[in-house]
Amino acid sequence: MSLRIYPSILSADFVNLEAEIARISSADGVHCDVMDNHFVEAISFGPQTIRRIVQVSSVPVDVHLMIENPDKFAPGYGEIGAHSVTFHVEAAKDVEGTIRAIQDTGARAAIALKPGTAAEPYFPMFHLADMVLVMTVEPGAGGQPFLREMMTKLDTVATYVADHNLSALVQVDGGITVDTLPIARAHGADTFVAGSSVYSAGNPAENIAALRVAANDTEE
Ligand code: DX5
Ligand code: ZN
Repeated sequence: MSLRIYPSILSADFVNLEAEIARISSADGVHCDVMDNHFVEAISFGPQTIRRIVQVSSVPVDVHLMIENPDKFAPGYGEIGAHSVTFHVEAAKDVEGTIRAIQDTGARAAIALKPGTAAEPYFPMFHLADMVLVMTVEPGAGGQPFLREMMTKLDTVATYVADHNLSALVQVDGGITVDTLPIARAHGADTFVAGSSVYSAGNPAENIAALRVAANDTEE
């Protein structure tokens, strides 16, 4: 199984984003958290910033929208060149329509589930989406502890995807470290977002390498 590490720039230096993104060129993508002060309390950045990130990043740009009304705003992130656009099912009025509208721009579309959101009602959407994000923290901030109790839902999601031979990636986001990545991997995740464990201490490239070693430590 090929595993992907997507550092989250939420824990990077926001006034030096170009340099911060250059430090993670060994990653498989850069995860960009868009927060609107409505769906979550925090505010981060929006489409102007993402447009520049797309221009300067050497790795694919993975946009995680923590915003209200993704039906209206999500496709715009595909139009400006995001590789993948993830929106929260809790915020969408028309999940299927929003997936298709993102894909119509040429971007991959992903659906995110908050910790309190059950996976089963969204099974039909797994057939359409390019990725399913199981949040392992409450969305809204970096640096929170990994919610191990999400592993049951992760099992449910990963098992459904495997049993139906779906191409959707299974992403986890929140509290991913060298200690928790192998746990999430064992429960079926293949794409790992890591913010503070990449950027908050030490060298980001070395931290990415350590996450890859942790991932391979569990290789059967
Ligand atoms: C949380 C964000 C995450 C965040 C992860 O709402 O979606 O992407 O940056 O940060 P860590 O890895 O520090 O939990
Ligand atoms: Zn995120």
